[in-house]
Amino acid sequence: MSEPQPNEPPTTPGRTPHGPFRPGDQVQLTDPKGRINTITLQPGKLYHSHKGSVPHDDIIGSPEGTVFRSTGGTDYLAFRPLLADFALRMPRGAAVVYPKDAAQIVAMADVFPGARVVEAGAGSGALSCFLLRAVGEHGLLSSYERRPDFADIARANVEKFFGGPHPAWRLTLGSLEHALAETDVDRVILDMLAPWECLDAVAKALVPGGIVCAYIATTTQMSRVVEDLRAHGNFAEPHASETMLRTWHVDGLAVRPDHRMVGHTGFLVTARRLADGVTPPARRRRPAKAAHPEPAAPGVPAEPPTAPPATPGRPAES
Ligand SMILES: C[S@@+](CC[C@H](N)C(=O)[O-])C[C@H]1O[C@@H](n2cnc3c(N)ncnc32)[C@H](O)[C@@H]1O
Repeated sequence: MSEPQPNEPPTTPGRTPHGPFRPGDQVQLTDPKGRINTITLQPGKLYHSHKGSVPHDDIIGSPEGTVFRSTGGTDYLAFRPLLADFALRMPRGAAVVYPKDAAQIVAMADVFPGARVVEAGAGSGALSCFLLRAVGEHGLLSSYERRPDFADIARANVEKFFGGPHPAWRLTLGSLEHALAETDVDRVILDMLAPWECLDAVAKALVPGGIVCAYIATTTQMSRVVEDLRAHGNFAEPHASETMLRTWHVDGLAVRPDHRMVGHTGFLVTARRLADGVTPPARRRRPAKAAHPEPAAPGVPAEPPTAPPATPGRPAES
């Protein structure tokens, strides 16, 4: 493949993030203190800071990883922003999916190049960018968003990241449970308050073997979506998980976890679509008694759940 040349027309940075810097590219300039400024390259313009200026024309045509000295003598290291950088810095309407969770969604929902994927809600479009990267230009990502103001933000962010409309992306304004139009869908990703309200529509849209993946913020939502998936009848046993990321400080002999971390983002629940007419196989592990207490007879106070006997060193079953 030939390298794009600096004088080629405006680029699609999210789609071809390589080669020398070109007009239209976003560039992250990092100063010696690690502060980052993101600019969009335009011939003839200057990047100004209180440490002097850097002409965009000096950056255009240079390889990534070049250092530019401002007129005030400060060095700036220039790279194209990664999608993870872009997602955390882009304008937000709704809260975005963090890169650690986006990566896990792509993995656990097994999103592959060429897949037909439905997503709701689009929110700020962060997850849409990761999913578009995963399905590629020959796949389909159909995103639904019920708030027009958030849909506008999502569209602006996706188009900014990919340098224009992405050929695989469709954005529909509306609630997924009413508006979902696609059939023969491989994957459905739900990032919304009440994913259980969409399960009928999702079951209709998914191919047998397809995956529904819900990203939810609280344990009560996780419980509801898992129980409703089990009760639905069209899905195999759901799988629930949480992903924790701990970054590390590594400097000489000082090698330790960073003092600060993002303590909680959300939970993932995935389940596969059964073939039509198939009854989900019975679960072989009997649930713990306390998990599903008997409803009390009218007028009789409910028994408090008894804790299973603890075995030292082994967590009690739940
Ligand atoms: C947390 S945000 C999604 C953030 C998005 N994944 C991102 O990374 O930028 C949840 C969004 O779902 C939308 N929403 C909630 N229920 C919906 C539904 N039933 N159909 C479509 N959109 C829905 C909300 O308006 C909101 O914008």
